Amino acid sequence: MLFKILVIVHTLGATVWTGGHLVLAVMVLPKALKSCNPALIHNFEESFEPLGLTALVLQGITGLWLTWIYFPGLQDFWKFDGFLSTYIAIKLGLLLLTLGLAIHARFFIIPRLYQETLNSLAYHIVGVTTLAVLLVILGAGIRLGGLT
Ligand code: HEM
Repeated sequence: MLFKILVIVHTLGATVWTGGHLVLAVMVLPKALKSCNPALIHNFEESFEPLGLTALVLQGITGLWLTWIYFPGLQDFWKFDGFLSTYIAIKLGLLLLTLGLAIHARFFIIPRLYQETLNSLAYHIVGVTTLAVLLVILGAGIRLGGLT
């Protein structure tokens, strides 16, 4: 039962985090770039941030918990003798990259978000969104028993 709840919460978190970033990257960002109006992104970030960050934290917790269920004590995890540990390790790496980009944007770009810095935020948004989609693809790959 716990495993099922974790998979459902993990999947729900994925819809929020990845879905939110797809809306930002595909709908909001092009409008902001076209009209040179960073406020559009500011407004979106302000409403999305509490839910989005909660989802990201939940992804980390539920993801590690699921990993612990698949590899109790993590002993067999480090053998990397199957697709599962490889996919999970890649997911962890992608999560760390996401955190790096998100922290950099949150503390170094968004507070100084003018028309000139809009382009560098655009790269961050596209980067985090791409990572989010890759995390979903790898997650689905785990459920499907591998992607090849
Ligand atoms: C933003 C971050 C993440 C997203 C968007 C994401 C997304 C997903 C999705 C969509 C699935 C497929 C669920 C299913 O159909 O069963 C999944 C499965 C999984 N994810 Fe993640 N994930 C994220 C982070 C992580 C992290 C950090 C870990 C562990 C280090 C992790 C470990 C797993 C595992 C073990 C599964 C397989 C669960 C199962 O048996 O179905 N995920 N993930």
